Amino acid sequence: MQRFQDISPCRDAVLEARQRRLTIGLVPTMGALHAGHASLIMASRQRCDRTVVTIFVNPTQFGPNEDYLRYPKPIDADLALCQAEGVDMVFQPSADAMYSTGSPTSIHVGELTSTLCGPHRPGHFDGVATVVAKLFNIVPAHVAFFGEKDYQQLMVVRRMVRDLNMPIEIVGCPTVRDPDGLAMSSRNAYLCPGDRRQALSLSRALFAARDAIGSGRRDVAAIVSQMHRTILDAGPASIDYVEIVDALTLQPLSTVDRPARICLAVWIGSCRLIDNVGVDAPVSPG
Ligand code: PAJ
Repeated sequence: MQRFQDISPCRDAVLEARQRRLTIGLVPTMGALHAGHASLIMASRQRCDRTVVTIFVNPTQFGPNEDYLRYPKPIDADLALCQAEGVDMVFQPSADAMYSTGSPTSIHVGELTSTLCGPHRPGHFDGVATVVAKLFNIVPAHVAFFGEKDYQQLMVVRRMVRDLNMPIEIVGCPTVRDPDGLAMSSRNAYLCPGDRRQALSLSRALFAARDAIGSGRRDVAAIVSQMHRTILDAGPASIDYVEIVDALTLQPLSTVDRPARICLAVWIGSCRLIDNVGVDAPVSPG
């Protein structure tokens, strides 16, 4: 496994592989790798000849009061996971290397960032879009893999690639969950055992809502208020949002009458958790 901290040698190695007609898969991450990240690596290895993982805790996507400074950085364990999963190259730059020119240029993806996490995390998706664009330039891959766990991020990246004619294919991969339903996240490390138990209410609320829609419920307000009850009955939590949105535009729905995504962001203790599930276009009765 090759490791790079500097931009030019990394890009050169990727270009050299491309010259040999090898297909390149890219898995961008912020490290603290878990089975969710490993599933993206596996998807890349199935599809591509070479897999590049980037590990970079990107300062520009964190707000001033967010967890940038305490974000976990278990670099030895991360490298061991990459090695075990058969990753070919790891790019692990410093913030100085990534932002040596300052950051006066940034990418703003409109519309899709006006809902869900957008208003709660001002500037977050600009930071994500910009660093992902930089990573696409540094690692000129054919395909990049993103998790549905961060559904809005996946849609924002797809939209950026489409709007800016970036020559890369984006593949979305299903959310990996612990056996009890909790969506895997690097931030789960912040949860004490009591908080973790309480956090199960998020996937419980999502699955119950999906089942309700599957059995014919359409009224978003009623479904969402049941979800609030499920979450708040489990213990003290602060709900940023629970919404059912159009799966493509991410605009809120009042009736589930098309492919939709049920999305939530909830604070448990000092940890902000996000999760979502998809619901297919319901068959209209009769
Ligand atoms: P990070 O949170 O490390 O996630 C890296 C990738 O792993 C993302 O595409 C995310 O959706 C995916 N992922 C995380 N948990 C997952 C799970 N339980 N199941 C499936 N996939 C999962 O997302 C970021 O980093 C950053 O914003 C980044 C895109 C790297 C830009 O800095």
